Amino acid sequence: MENPSFISSADQAAVPFKTKWQAPSNIALVKYWGKTEPQLPKNPSLSFTLSSSVTTTEVDFSPNNRETFEFEFYFEGALKADFNPKLNSFFDRIKSYIPWLNSYSLRISSQNSFPHSSGIASSASAMAALSLCLMDMERKLFPEIAEVDFYKKASFLARLGSGSAARSVEGPVTLWGKNSVQKTGSDLYATAFGTDLNPVFSSYQDTILLVDKGTKAVSSSQGHQLMHNHPFATQRFIQAGHNLADLVAIMKSGDLDGFMRIVETEALSLHTMMMTSNPYFILMQPNTLEIIQKVWKYRKETQIPLCFTLDAGANVHLLYPQKNKEEVGAFIAAELVSFCEQGQYLFDEVGTGAKKV
Ligand code: PMV
Repeated sequence: MENPSFISSADQAAVPFKTKWQAPSNIALVKYWGKTEPQLPKNPSLSFTLSSSVTTTEVDFSPNNRETFEFEFYFEGALKADFNPKLNSFFDRIKSYIPWLNSYSLRISSQNSFPHSSGIASSASAMAALSLCLMDMERKLFPEIAEVDFYKKASFLARLGSGSAARSVEGPVTLWGKNSVQKTGSDLYATAFGTDLNPVFSSYQDTILLVDKGTKAVSSSQGHQLMHNHPFATQRFIQAGHNLADLVAIMKSGDLDGFMRIVETEALSLHTMMMTSNPYFILMQPNTLEIIQKVWKYRKETQIPLCFTLDAGANVHLLYPQKNKEEVGAFIAAELVSFCEQGQYLFDEVGTGAKKV
């Protein structure tokens, strides 16, 4: 048992309940890559919570007299059994923490704001939205739960569905994993950065250039797996710890040069791990590199603090302050759109976290 204080009781009489939550996607600035069971990160990570890229999930809880938990999952209006294995393992993992769940049948309906196959991972926003619905039911049964514990446990449950989902509950910046600069940092759940975040970062822009909208050749789970016995793993985990400590200081001071240096280092380091694992793989595409070169040239010529980060895929996230929105938008439209699949990209920005709808 990871943390007995997260276990609630099964003693309440079952009641019908329906709730709907919207949870955002997040983009890591310090990357989580490598884990141990059950979804415990090998290094701390830090991310921007997004605003428009969200999953909305409604859960209808019906008391089930047979005391056998069951669920149906609908995605964008259609019954979808493809997600059942992932959902089954999620529920198996979290059931001991929310034992009341055994007395219910669930109808789960979910939809994403971003296009279906866009190469944007939806597991973080999806697992966070579902966990918040479960916590809302828990709050119905145990109304005394404190607000802070509600969000902490939602992040804890979300983490058991998909590691990075722990960071999709709060905003605008969250930290997950034990680290050297935050006494309360935990591997079990993510927490919000705090009030000392420099204001430039609470309105930061993220434009997602859709370079490859297809399914990734190697999934995140396989990638995490390959960090076991990776020749550079130990060094990578140390590097991430240092980068996180430096970035936390930078995100208080607002030093944008320092910010860009760490964010780009992290993106390239993540992809370096992929290229040097056994078996090795490359998720970047030629257009990913074209975009990076263009971004560096533009930054040199204009001194505008535009930088990039990468997820576990070919898409490029462009990060920049809100005050540079207009000129960066013009640059993207003029010079980068040709490197995007079907010319597609999405404007997003830092958001405040999940909400009930
Ligand atoms: O949450 P997972 O298991 O899909 O892993 C996410 C891994 C990265 O997106 C590449 C990095 C991160 O910290 O979000």
